[in-house]
Amino acid sequence: MSEFQIRRDDLTQTRIVAAGNTVEDFQLDSGDILVKIDRFAFTANNITYGAVGDQIGYWQFFPPSSGDNGEDTDGWGILPVWGFADVVVSNTEGLPVGERLYGYFPPADFLKMTPKGIGPSRFTDAAEHRSALPPGYNMYRRVTAEPGYDPSMDNERALLYPLHITSFCLWDALKDKNWHGAEQILILSASSKTSIGLAYALADDKAAPQTTAVTSSRNIGLVKRLGLYGHQVTYDNLTDIDANVPAVIVDMSGNLGLLAKLHTHLGGNMKHCINVGMTHWEEFQSKEGADGIITERSEFFFAPGHIQKRMADWGPAEFNERTGSFMHATALRSRDWLTCTPIDGLQGLADIFADVSGGRIAPDQGLIISL
Ligand SMILES: NC(=O)c1ccc[n+]([C@@H]2O[C@H](COP(=O)([O-])OP(=O)(O)OC[C@H]3O[C@@H](n4cnc5c(N)ncnc54)[C@H](OP(=O)(O)O)[C@@H]3O)[C@@H](O)[C@H]2O)c1
Repeated sequence: MSEFQIRRDDLTQTRIVAAGNTVEDFQLDSGDILVKIDRFAFTANNITYGAVGDQIGYWQFFPPSSGDNGEDTDGWGILPVWGFADVVVSNTEGLPVGERLYGYFPPADFLKMTPKGIGPSRFTDAAEHRSALPPGYNMYRRVTAEPGYDPSMDNERALLYPLHITSFCLWDALKDKNWHGAEQILILSASSKTSIGLAYALADDKAAPQTTAVTSSRNIGLVKRLGLYGHQVTYDNLTDIDANVPAVIVDMSGNLGLLAKLHTHLGGNMKHCINVGMTHWEEFQSKEGADGIITERSEFFFAPGHIQKRMADWGPAEFNERTGSFMHATALRSRDWLTCTPIDGLQGLADIFADVSGGRIAPDQGLIISL
């Protein structure tokens, strides 16, 4: 097996570690399964898992292996990814060899899992080291059994569903709070897929305030072509935003300097700021220019927390129905502008990794790594 690892304290350093390459290299206990990872998506979201790995616990999902050559794992970690895998060995009843799964995987050839709570459509990986982590990440969908499962949507699902479920939750949270009294919604890092998912939801909601995309000059072309946002502004022209109109900010960038400038520009009309992401992770880590952020009207948004809340409010069936139909529709609509770019194996990921972490992948490209 090969595994893609990254330095936890320096997200520019990666390596591929070889750790056995056959099914026989894995020791499975009774109840365990072994899955072969087939494909996964890779976006700024995966880089963010590393940028906040210590705070949120993302390093704990998949501990790095020391490999055939006994590499030192100290300081190394694994960035989780979303994708598909097939069961290749099964020591548990109810999950036969050949079943296809969707969920959270390591960028590696195989994953040994300990399924619990096996239902017709899902189960949980109850591996001990994952037990304290947010339950949504430990849940796997049994896609083979899904009514209407369409393998031709696998790429869009791997790429967009983990992001667009967040977009749905952001729209729901904003609406639930009556848009925080704002008359404009400013979306930072507007060319990201999570932002575009939110833009779909807001464009479809007649009650939603007008939206403004805030993005880099490099990506404003795509943002305009989408035709989803009411207005577009680049980071260099933040003061073009009308400070007389009460605003709510949804921030995917984590760029504290930009946020401080925008909060200062809006002043009392900065009604609320929802901190969602950090596509500009280097600026987030440097904390440069952060003075001026109105922290008392800022909140951190964690999609798994909102998902758990709505599952309890609506029940899992209604939640799945509402989010499922949203994500299916937005994935189909994304075919108008998004191209899934195939990447060959973990070496292909290693070759393109610096472009992803450096923000040099065009926003209308979606990387799908096939193993
Ligand atoms: N809190 C939550 O629960 C939650 C859930 C899902 C996603 N998120 C977060 O939302 C963010 C968006 O994720 P995504 O996967 O949708 O992103 P994505 O589609 O890969 O976003 C790409 C865009 O991000 C910006 N970017 C990426 N890397 C950059 C870099 N190094 N320097 C400058 N700009 C860079 C660029 O947009 P611009 O030019 O427009 O800035 C680029 O077009 C991530 O931080 C992700 O972790 C959070």
